[in-house]
Amino acid sequence: MNSILATPYQTADGSSTLRSLKYGAYYHSVNGAITESEHVFIKYGLGAVQHQSINILEVGFGTGLNAALTAGMAKNRELEITYYGIDLYPLSIDELSLLNYGSVLPSATASLWKSICSIPWNHPREVFPRFILHKQQVDFTQWQPSEPYHLVYFDAFAPDDQPEMWQFEGFKKLFRQLHQGGILVTYCAKGTVKDALRVAGFTLDRLQGPPGKRHMLRAWKR
Ligand SMILES: C[S@@+](CC[C@H](N)C(=O)[O-])C[C@H]1O[C@@H](n2cnc3c(N)ncnc32)[C@H](O)[C@@H]1O
Repeated sequence: MNSILATPYQTADGSSTLRSLKYGAYYHSVNGAITESEHVFIKYGLGAVQHQSINILEVGFGTGLNAALTAGMAKNRELEITYYGIDLYPLSIDELSLLNYGSVLPSATASLWKSICSIPWNHPREVFPRFILHKQQVDFTQWQPSEPYHLVYFDAFAPDDQPEMWQFEGFKKLFRQLHQGGILVTYCAKGTVKDALRVAGFTLDRLQGPPGKRHMLRAWKR
């Protein structure tokens, strides 16, 4: 797909992540990649949605770790999920093979991750019955969403590394696409991000962050 975009790095919980050569930023917290994904996106995101049938958007699909953990929970709880993952710079199979998720995730989730990695970009596929994955190669700042979402995983590189991803215009676009009662979760609790989310219309919960971060945000469309 692309040439080498990222190099591997071992995080504190034993799971690996990648470091982007373009942005000089890690794809996950160095204090624990799986720990961060489970805390921010699964526990405080998916865990807060009351529906059985859920549309999820992930901004910054990256390694597919959030998608795999979501698919694992969907299987356990018999949820029906349509998952839209957008990314401007999809990782190649060679880059994904640098990660250890195939051995450190529980085996059912590890095999979901492998399936998710093998799904082609821009061609929606069923990962298993009741879990449809659309991986779309698009630039978030230019993209015009067409689907309604219950839940947004906002997982861009940090505002200091990629400020254009964290602007009011992008959040407003997501706010409009969310169902009433919908949620956006992100690991970032920076003041400028809170301000941009509030101006876009969200009501914020400041929650305990994953290891190494004091806070994270959950933003509601109320
Ligand atoms: C923090 S990483 C995402 C980690 C990912 N959620 C995971 O579970 O591995 C940020 C991602 O944003 C993507 N990205 C950077 N600029 C983008 C843009 N303009 N539009 C969409 N995605 C972008 C990067 O390619 C990278 O995959």
